[in-house]
This record gives sequence, structure tokens and C-alpha cells, in this order.
Amino acid sequence: MSVLVRLVDLTRTFDVSPPWLNRVLEGRPRVLLKAVEGVSLDIRRGETLGLVGESGCGKSTVARLIVGLHAPTRGRVEYGGVVLAGEGAVAAEAAKRRQARRSMQMIFQDPYASLNPRWRVADIVAEPLVTQDEALPRNQIAERVDRLLVQVGLAAADGAKYPHQFSGGQRQRISIARALATEPAFLVCDEPTSALDVSVQAQVLNLMRDLQRRMGLTYLFISHNLAVVHHIADRVGVMYLGRIVELAPTARLFGDPQHPYTRMLLDAVPDLRMTGAPRVAVAGEVPNPLDPPTGCAFHPRCPHANERCRREVPTLKACAVDGEVACHAVDDGRLPPRAVPTLVA
Ligand SMILES: Nc1ncnc2c1ncn2[C@@H]1O[C@H](COP(=O)(O)OP(=O)(O)O)[C@@H](O)[C@H]1O
Ligand code: SF4
Ligand SMILES: [Mg+2]
Repeated sequence: MSVLVRLVDLTRTFDVSPPWLNRVLEGRPRVLLKAVEGVSLDIRRGETLGLVGESGCGKSTVARLIVGLHAPTRGRVEYGGVVLAGEGAVAAEAAKRRQARRSMQMIFQDPYASLNPRWRVADIVAEPLVTQDEALPRNQIAERVDRLLVQVGLAAADGAKYPHQFSGGQRQRISIARALATEPAFLVCDEPTSALDVSVQAQVLNLMRDLQRRMGLTYLFISHNLAVVHHIADRVGVMYLGRIVELAPTARLFGDPQHPYTRMLLDAVPDLRMTGAPRVAVAGEVPNPLDPPTGCAFHPRCPHANERCRREVPTLKACAVDGEVACHAVDDGRLPPRAVPTLVA
């Protein structure tokens, strides 16, 4: 499968310093927060890459870097071989970049906040089309909108209504129709079902899978919910404090997790196979990103941490089982087998 999106050493730092005057008067230093640090990964054409991790680990920042809502501090984003942002972006490829940008769309967690409450649904869905091509005849736009609404499981007549007349799940369907209006190839979905009830979540996930198959779409699917990612993703990346710590095909990641953090997350999920295996609460908290631990950022919570872990940042390496993992214990071959029965895809 060919690569559609490539992230190379993608890094984003935010300046969260107090205002300049306070810094000068109170002698306070500049404060930088590393939200994303050295993320390198490929997203293949037609696949769904899941990205998981606890809140604040940098998932949304990766999404925003890819679609161009943030600029990288270091590293780059490539789309179809064109450097969109960061190191290596050349002025001569501006037209190619615009074309690439048009072929990606983002879906957000809260469909109510991302839909203009004063607009009719038909106008909301049509907006990206109109922005892209102002000369598009009205009847063609209306036809496209009707078709999109039907494709996402709504009725063409729903176009005349306003967002508040719909349920959360229906509103997310409207967001999906809007995202698909310009016929993108790649969708970045940031917690698209996290605000929905469980039963509605499944319907929206199934719709997304269906649309993917029919339209050959590629997804980056972000969620803090492992069960959701298990359901939809082909491969999964696990993030911890701005870095990818494990990346593997979904069945391998859930069936034979390597990184101690991945294991901790999985141990806390209700057993998908209902074998009656005990759930283990996630231990400890994500450290303050303004003052990250030395070495492996997971070491204060890790039962396998040693001196090397406290000193040296582990890099992502191919592991004996499929995929990649960033852990010294795995690297040194001293990671014990997992204690808790595993989830199988
Ligand atoms: N615009 C911003 N300014 C300052 N800090 C930010 C900004 N956006 C995100 N952060 C910080 O970056 C870190 C990662 O955030 P985010 O990418 O939203 O994580 P996630 O989506 O995994 O919850 C957090 O510590 C967050 O507070
Ligand atoms: S590198 Fe060390 S501290 Fe980090 S996850 Fe592996 S064993 Fe634990
Ligand atoms: Mg987020």
C-alpha cells in the first residue's frame, strides 16, 4: 500500500510564558511546552490509522499540524510526496500544496460547536463547495448536498432544517456530509464519536467505515477510547507525552501489547471478550508537560523502569513481533510476558 501522509520528526512547541512585562519585572523565564516531539509515521492510502493516548498527550496537536492549523516547530508533514509544512517546503510547490490541502478535511469532537447554529443544514454542507468554486451553479450545489445527506443516512429534506433540530449523532452525520462535500481523499477525525452515547457511537463508526469502503478514503482516527479504535483502526499508534511509544497493526497491538504504557491502558479497558479478566485501574497521572521526566517520560509510572530509563529517551524501533516500540526493557529483552489475559481482535 502506498504512503499518503508522512510525518517526519514532527515537533511542536508552544510558548506559554507569562506576558513579556511580567517576565521582565518579575524576572520570570520563558516557558516552552513541548506538545508533540519527534513524531515520525506513515499513513497508507486507504487505511485507518488510530491514534490513542490519555488526554493532553498531543493527539489533537498532531491533527492540527497535519491539516495546517498549526505550523511545525521542527520536522515536516508530507502529503502525496509534497511537503505541506515544515522543513523542505518549497515555494515552487504552492499550487500542489493548495491542491493537497483541498483533499483533506477534519471532523471534530463536538458537532454542535462546529456547525453554525444560524445556518440551514443545506448551507452548512454546501459551504466548503462554494468556497472552493464560487462559480458552481446553484442547482448543482443543491443536487450534491441532497446526495451527501442521503449518503450519511439523513434525508434530502433535512437540508431545510437547523442544527438544533437534530440529535448528537445526526449532527455528527451532518459534519461528515460537510467534510465529504469537496470529495476529499483524507479525513482527520479528532475524537469524532467521543461526545456521543455508546449505541450512537457504533452507528457513526459503522457509517464512517462504510463511506471509507465506498469512497476509498484514508483516515487518521484519534480517540482516547481504546474500544473505539479497536473497532475502526487497521493500525494504531499510542502516544505518551508528545511521543509515539508504540505503533502496530490493531490485532497485534491489542493481542500482544509490548510497551508498558500500552499494557497499562489495555488492562484498564473492560474486557472485550468478556472472559471475566479483572480490570486494573490506570496507575498514576500523566506528568506535567512543562516539567517532563528525564529519560523515558513514562518512567515514574513504569513497573519496569531502571537506571537507563531515567537517563536515556528510548527511540521507536522495530520489535520482534510486528510493529515498532520505544522501550528500553523491550530493547534489552527484559520485559516480562503480560500478566493479564489479552484482548484479541
Ligand atoms: N494552543 C496551545 N497553546 C498552549 N498549549 C497547548 C496548545 N494546544 C495544546 N497545548 C498543550 O499541548 C499538550 C497537548 O495537547 P493536545 O494536543 O490537545 O492533547 P490531546 O488531544 O491528546 O488531549 C497539552 O499539554 C496542551 O495543554
Ligand atoms: S523505557 Fe523503561 S521506563 Fe520507559 S516504558 Fe520502557 S521499561 Fe518503562
Ligand atoms: Mg484532543
